[in-house]
Amino acid sequence: MFITFEGIDGCGKSTQAKLLEERLRASLSTPIVFVRDPGHTGISESIRAILLDKANTAMTARTELLLYSAARAQLVDTVIAPALLAGSIVLADRFTDSTIAYQSFGRGLALPDIHHANAVATGGIVPNLTFFLDVPLHHAKERCADKNADRIELAGDEFFERVIAGYRSLTENEPQRVKRLDATLEVETLHEYIWSAVQAAFVS
Ligand code: TMP
Repeated sequence: MFITFEGIDGCGKSTQAKLLEERLRASLSTPIVFVRDPGHTGISESIRAILLDKANTAMTARTELLLYSAARAQLVDTVIAPALLAGSIVLADRFTDSTIAYQSFGRGLALPDIHHANAVATGGIVPNLTFFLDVPLHHAKERCADKNADRIELAGDEFFERVIAGYRSLTENEPQRVKRLDATLEVETLHEYIWSAVQAAFVS
């Protein structure tokens, strides 16, 4: 079982991913592996640092796409694929849908190129269930107000409105896999919804 969490920066997905991890650990004996993408492995964390460094203003959109893909390939090959093969539950804070939303809808790269890069990076692994935490941009910005913005977070409001639109279109295209949640709801309310959806996915 592979579950991913998606949404713009400040949507609350990391909080929800952690709550689900805790609940699963308390309820099941199945091993749980929690990762963040980009990141988790040494190589992927090094690539993440390059991607988020706001000094890298010269980075082009295609370079950005390939670096996210490289970080993900390392994460899939060394952690996600072996864990799924061993029967673990894998939870990921972001995965391929981020690349569709940010690099295609946000940066304007062609969707077929994104699909191709994602296919190479994942070797065909697709999440069973994805939670998209949908939040208005102003709401997310309030939550991030105290944070030192990274290179992506400096991209501007129009960029993030396109990213949100990208996520919404994903939900419409793949309603079975991608569950859109109103992320302005209380943390506990959202967690209960996520827990029910995960339980339903386990029994189906
Ligand atoms: P995080 O702070 O949520 O871990 O994500 C790092 C940033 O990278 C975030 O601004 C979203 C962005 N991102 C992309 O642009 N494309 C991707 O494929 C991924 C995984 C993240």
